[in-house]
Amino acid sequence: MGNRISLLLTGDPNDISLNLSGLYGYQNVVIHTAQVLGSGAYGNAVKATLDKNPCAAKILHRVIVDSQDPGLSDFISRFEQECQILRDLKHPNIVQFLGVVQDPSTNKPILLMELMKDSLTHFLESSPTDIPYHVQVNISHDIALAVAHLHRNGILHRDLSSNNILLNASHLAKVTDFGMSKIAASNPSMTRSKVTQCPGTLVYMPPEALRPQPRYSDKIDTFSIGVLLLQIVTRKFPAPTAASTTREDPSSAWGEIDVPIPEMERRKSDIVKVPAYSGFLPVIRDCLKDKSKDRPTAAQLCQRLGQLKSTAVYSGSRSALLFEGRTELHDAAERGDVKTVERLLSTSVNINSRTEDVRLSTSECVVSFLTQFIDCCSTGLCIPTTCRKDTLLYC
Ligand SMILES: Nc1ncnc2c1ncn2[C@@H]1O[C@H](COP(=O)(O)OP(=O)(O)O)[C@@H](O)[C@H]1O
Ligand SMILES: [Mg+2]
Repeated sequence: MGNRISLLLTGDPNDISLNLSGLYGYQNVVIHTAQVLGSGAYGNAVKATLDKNPCAAKILHRVIVDSQDPGLSDFISRFEQECQILRDLKHPNIVQFLGVVQDPSTNKPILLMELMKDSLTHFLESSPTDIPYHVQVNISHDIALAVAHLHRNGILHRDLSSNNILLNASHLAKVTDFGMSKIAASNPSMTRSKVTQCPGTLVYMPPEALRPQPRYSDKIDTFSIGVLLLQIVTRKFPAPTAASTTREDPSSAWGEIDVPIPEMERRKSDIVKVPAYSGFLPVIRDCLKDKSKDRPTAAQLCQRLGQLKSTAVYSGSRSALLFEGRTELHDAAERGDVKTVERLLSTSVNINSRTEDVRLSTSECVVSFLTQFIDCCSTGLCIPTTCRKDTLLYC
């Protein structure tokens, strides 16, 4: 890699410009180190151009590169491993590897990858309105697909967080940042990693990873997906209470012992914000189970979120549902009487939109009807009562 690359000069002293001589099929790369896309624990993502095509480059923080501290050299080897892991992965929901070049001034790698539009964190925080249901479902399904692919290839991500999920312009989600990833020795569902410290971002970590000597399996990622779903639905950064409380115990050396707080309890303030009728709620509950064996695998999550996806109705803030002869249903929805809505929707209903026909199961009908009913109410659109029986139409 190194000997074929030569340094070029651009007008900007912050640019690193390299002649690639056909490496990875490209001639030139310019890394605009001052144009920062985002920052993480050990690197900056910056804008770059690869043969004039915009891309992203990940470079190590200078303080890490320059440090003599042996503790920090671990960051460098992790980054090298990240480059290797990403190089070998190809999946529509994993950020696309484009190449690795060497920074001529530090001799450290620079990771080139596709340029994404936004991080999930920023997308959720900057959206002025609720994220439409079908977008929530699509993003969630994308994440599960990526993680299932990782697990099939024996890789645990271990640091799934909204900063490490990127979105393109059409809200396709891709997983990035494999700096904490671990290649399991064999099938990750069988492997229990034993490490000395919790790998990822604390609020996304399951109880077994928060212990002094964490032991965990692929279900560490499933748990993090559960926290991500909670965040996607509520648009709030997760705010769990402490993971444990103390209880007096004269038999222990300290006179007290740590008692773990169940996840559903410590995350109650977020969970209550998920509507009771939301199709996400049972999935979130299962992902956040205290015992890892009770959580679904990533492959099972793909299936469950895929089902939500296949039945999610395209919803926009100006969409409205029209019903004919269904005033009883309207009244029940207005009262928030979910049971009556369920009963009235107990037959399959054809959904007609301008662009597509979707057949819904009963439970999904309830979810999408209520979601969109609330959507209509909040946007002030009235719901006319003239429409063909059993047919929902967008307007
Ligand atoms: N390919 C990319 N396109 C656009 N922004 C990116 C890209 N990669 C990373 N970022 C931004 O940079 C941030 C840090 O990148 P990340 O790889 O997570 O670094 P770290 O390992 O230091 O956490 C991300 O949260 C995101 O906002
Ligand atoms: Mg990161």
